[in-house]
Amino acid sequence: MTVQPNGLAERRIVITGGGRGLGRVVAEDLLRHGARVVIVGRKSTVTQWIQEHHAGSAVTADVTDAAQLAAAFAEAAARLGGLDVVFANAGVSRPGPLAVTPPANFTTVLETNVVGTFLTLQAAVPYLAESGSARFIALSSALAQRIAPGAGAYSISKAAIETLVRVAAIELAPQSISVNALSPGFIDEGMGRDLIANPPVWDRYLPTIAAGRPGRAEEIAGVARFLAGPDSDYVNGHVLEVNGGLAF
Ligand SMILES: NC(=O)c1ccc[n+]([C@@H]2O[C@H](COP(=O)([O-])OP(=O)(O)OC[C@H]3O[C@@H](n4cnc5c(N)ncnc54)[C@H](OP(=O)(O)O)[C@@H]3O)[C@@H](O)[C@H]2O)c1
Repeated sequence: MTVQPNGLAERRIVITGGGRGLGRVVAEDLLRHGARVVIVGRKSTVTQWIQEHHAGSAVTADVTDAAQLAAAFAEAAARLGGLDVVFANAGVSRPGPLAVTPPANFTTVLETNVVGTFLTLQAAVPYLAESGSARFIALSSALAQRIAPGAGAYSISKAAIETLVRVAAIELAPQSISVNALSPGFIDEGMGRDLIANPPVWDRYLPTIAAGRPGRAEEIAGVARFLAGPDSDYVNGHVLEVNGGLAF
């Protein structure tokens, strides 16, 4: 396949949680389009990624740990000679009704998704500020703004991420850093694949998708590429939904 020039060549990109799931598909798509990518992940996933790619393209950090993230971003920026784009993609879900969700599960979701995105932003900004045309892209979800019983902790965390994005976009614009959210619907990869494989849950959601099918991970990667590249220069503080049209 011939890849056309797209403004991504040599763009220096970090993706948290890029070692598996959606983040991995996005990372590999960006690599194919000429970007230089370092993934940030926990140890087992990073080890696996390194076996399949090369050691220079991964660093280890837990996104709930500010010191680990600071070290990981320093290392990634040193390897790439700076940073232009950061995807705060790492995330978790712990389904269950709010009234009986173990507090530890609720805390894990909020710490990983909200505090993790916040700490990733703090670690990334000193490097992105040097880019001149930088992007910070957080992963939200269709469930940020839609009510789904059993998805309380996750929905709350993604709604917080969307607010974080809107505030940070205004605060960071003077440093030429745009901040957006990519909000997938039900995707046939990562945690979406688990949901699709759960008949009582999927039977409820499938009829709500206008497209009549789940999204493909490649369809998220294409939009991620748009948000990372020059065609999205004037997009800021935006939540870009990619869900085939949802009616709930
Ligand atoms: N797939 C979907 O349908 C869908 C829909 C809407 C939104 N999203 C969002 O897309 C993002 C990726 O989800 P996914 O479906 O690819 O999920 P996934 O397959 O479960 O992958 C999650 C990734 O996040 C990493 N991660 C989790 N906690 C971490 C931590 N404390 N520190 C560092 N890395 C951590 C995981 O690393 P480990 O391997 O170390 O666990 C893994 O690489 C998430 O933010 C999710 O909410 C997904």
